[in-house]
Amino acid sequence: MTQRFVALVPAAGSGSRFGGPSPKQYLQLSGRPLMWHTLRTLASVPAIDRVVVVLSPSDEWFDDFEWDIPGLEVLRVGGATRAQTVASGLANLGLGARDWVLVHDAARCCLSVAAVERLIAEVADDEVGGLLAVPVPDTVKRSDAGGRVSSTLARSGLWLAQTPQMFRAGLLTDSLSGRLDESVTDEASAIERMGLRPRLVEGDAANFKVTWPRDLTLARAILDARKGG
Ligand code: CTP
Ligand code: MG
Repeated sequence: MTQRFVALVPAAGSGSRFGGPSPKQYLQLSGRPLMWHTLRTLASVPAIDRVVVVLSPSDEWFDDFEWDIPGLEVLRVGGATRAQTVASGLANLGLGARDWVLVHDAARCCLSVAAVERLIAEVADDEVGGLLAVPVPDTVKRSDAGGRVSSTLARSGLWLAQTPQMFRAGLLTDSLSGRLDESVTDEASAIERMGLRPRLVEGDAANFKVTWPRDLTLARAILDARKGG
């Protein structure tokens, strides 16, 4: 049976931590809107059959830019939370239950083709699915209310979850169909709620999420370096 691979990019957020006049996914970065780099990378992965971006129904920015990404599909069905955006995107895709969906944050614009290919290679035979993640490199502290260290966590076995997160359409739809409380901040946590254990695939730190304005310098440096070389 042929399996299809579909990249689903939630891009309906407002970028409240970043601030600014337009959502961060539309900021100019290395000559293009931030999210163009994200979509371009996903569209460059030979194994990926479809790239779908999910916008807010009230998005007033997307049409202002030239996207020139062949085959890019645009849905304007985003919701109030990331999980709702993903769920309504999925509901509008017409996928088979065993098709693979790679959900990737629009704001992770420094994703590399190699990292996506590693994820697909390691997860395509998995019954549950998996995600890119990086082992926590630093010592992790818990703070008390006064900004002092209350404890040091054992670092071993801790990972930082990234995206893409890759699950079969049927399982992912089921996992997102219940009540989506605030603890569901990524697809893997919805799958975990079902008692399943997604596979961790080692990614790299360059695939960080642009969250605050200070993240732009690094993102620009990475994208410019790739463009140049
Ligand atoms: N996202 C979405 N729908 C929402 C909220 C977020 O599609 N209702 C998307 C964002 O556009 C982003 C990804 O989910 O690509 C990761 O979310 P985050 O980095 O938190 O972006 P925002 O929610 O826009 O930022 P903030 O939390 O600072 O408001
Ligand atoms: Mg958010």
